[in-house]
Amino acid sequence: MVAEVAHLVARDAAPERIRALIRSSIFEIENSFTIIDRLQARTRLALTLSLLEGSAQQASPRFGRLTATLRAELNKLDVDERHYWISTFYTLLMSPSARREKATYFTPPAIVRHLIGQVEKADLDLTTARIVDPAAGGAAFVSSLAGRMTELGCGAGDIRSRVSGIEIDPHLALLGEALVRDRLGSLRSKSRLIRTGDSLTVDEVAKYDAVFVNPPYGRILGLTKEIPAEWGAFSYPGHVNRYALFMDLAFRMTKPGGLVATVTPSSFISGPLFEKLRENIRIRTDVVRIDVLERKDVFHDVQQDACVSIFRMKVASRAARPFAPKVGRLDRNWKFAEDGVVTTGDDLLTTPWILPGKDSAFEFCPARLKDYGVSPKTGFFVWNRETDRLQHGKKTGNAFPLFWGTNIKPGKPCLPRSRDDGGVDFVAFEKENSGIIRKPSILLQRTTNSKQPRRIVAAAVPRKVLTKYKGYVCENHTIALVPEGRANLSLLTKLLNTNAVDRRFRRVGGTSSVSITALRNLPLPAPKHLRSALKRTDDFEAAVELAYSMSGRPASHRRAA
Ligand SMILES: C[S@@+](CC[C@H](N)C(=O)[O-])C[C@H]1O[C@@H](n2cnc3c(N)ncnc32)[C@H](O)[C@@H]1O
Repeated sequence: MVAEVAHLVARDAAPERIRALIRSSIFEIENSFTIIDRLQARTRLALTLSLLEGSAQQASPRFGRLTATLRAELNKLDVDERHYWISTFYTLLMSPSARREKATYFTPPAIVRHLIGQVEKADLDLTTARIVDPAAGGAAFVSSLAGRMTELGCGAGDIRSRVSGIEIDPHLALLGEALVRDRLGSLRSKSRLIRTGDSLTVDEVAKYDAVFVNPPYGRILGLTKEIPAEWGAFSYPGHVNRYALFMDLAFRMTKPGGLVATVTPSSFISGPLFEKLRENIRIRTDVVRIDVLERKDVFHDVQQDACVSIFRMKVASRAARPFAPKVGRLDRNWKFAEDGVVTTGDDLLTTPWILPGKDSAFEFCPARLKDYGVSPKTGFFVWNRETDRLQHGKKTGNAFPLFWGTNIKPGKPCLPRSRDDGGVDFVAFEKENSGIIRKPSILLQRTTNSKQPRRIVAAAVPRKVLTKYKGYVCENHTIALVPEGRANLSLLTKLLNTNAVDRRFRRVGGTSSVSITALRNLPLPAPKHLRSALKRTDDFEAAVELAYSMSGRPASHRRAA
């Protein structure tokens, strides 16, 4: 456990001394009580509360002694940092599985401050607004909002009547409450800002001027094809992400014209499984801004691309605004810079959002896969649904060789081989079927894992496969780019396998599964520019970059140049 704590804590920018003290406090706790996995929730809470100056006297002296040195060090920090480390200490006293299940990792103060600053810029009046955090945790948002309201001259009673949180873990809710009291001072009133409950079951419609949320995330496993009808508006069955449920909740809780501020994975920006969520967001809100977090360790326990976003709920009587959310970046040291606006390849509400990149030429590139004469088609054969049609090693009857994702190796001709490399697999057909491809094509892997360096992995099926077998079939984890007329498949395969294309693809289809839509939207250099760039240099990668810059320049600039 101590090693794991060391790993988690080391990833944060806490002063080295705090990291060391947290490690040694946890070591002491494990020696004095029990291993962290067996610690009771109320002991965990009491140990954590012993870090708060006022509560330390009330806590058992035994707890206070174990945390005294850490408490003294935390007292040197400003209140935001101190509270962040106190609530993080609580999560480090949880078992990793419990922490992961509830997503008890807390928003670093720099991100909280950034979001509060941005909602103020978006005209939220913190002296009057009613605000809720439906996944309140250690009250990072609730407490910091209370702090900002105090700076703006609001009284504690007023703040308590306008800011609140909901937290499913009752002990964490108590900790959050204690942190808010630490900041605002105790009131005689026993009313609580952080109530215990499951937010997903509360029914508070259009009640708040703003919702702040850093929700739990991750696909909900074990769902049947039947999902509640309302979830179908923002998720595909089988791919319901917990953060999508919380986004929907936040949108429901917020008044028309109000703001929703989120900290989430960035997968919704361009991921193929988030088409419905993107559509839903655009129907219900104006996306004010998306700020990409360049640190990948914002979510403890997992490396995750994350962003903070602000959405404004639409007002029925107001005309729709053009879709052009601002984009910013928060770098490793939380330094913020504006970076441009989101663009899209077409007008569909489901379409991936393209973030600005270093090459502004990118968004002007008009060519797409169709300009290279091919059309993408998802692999036809789902082997585990039709095992009776699968033949190993030898074909009988009307059967065609099967291509698996593992057969696709960049730079090599794509040849059919079984997954154990023990010959060729075949799929039997009773009659002609559109799943049988009867032309040379390019195959792409449809899913890559996050450890693979590239998202686009392409290889061409040579004509000799057709000469030998008269046709072939692709497994469902592949995508075939099938020629519709004349197509230079070897040139296109080489183009798709360049870093230049892969890097750009990540901006339109950032997740590990490659979608047909993202492929169709992928801006490519115009074929004529690629041909002309190849005459200027033998370095293919450099030629593709050159071709992109030629295609990306508006025609008027090209003529002038
Ligand atoms: C990622 S943390 C964010 C906490 C805090 N708002 C922050 O930004 O630091 C998510 C919190 O949501 C809580 N949570 C998870 N599911 C919940 C639910 N259904 N209702 C209320 N809270 C929930 C978890 O216990 C956890 O504390």
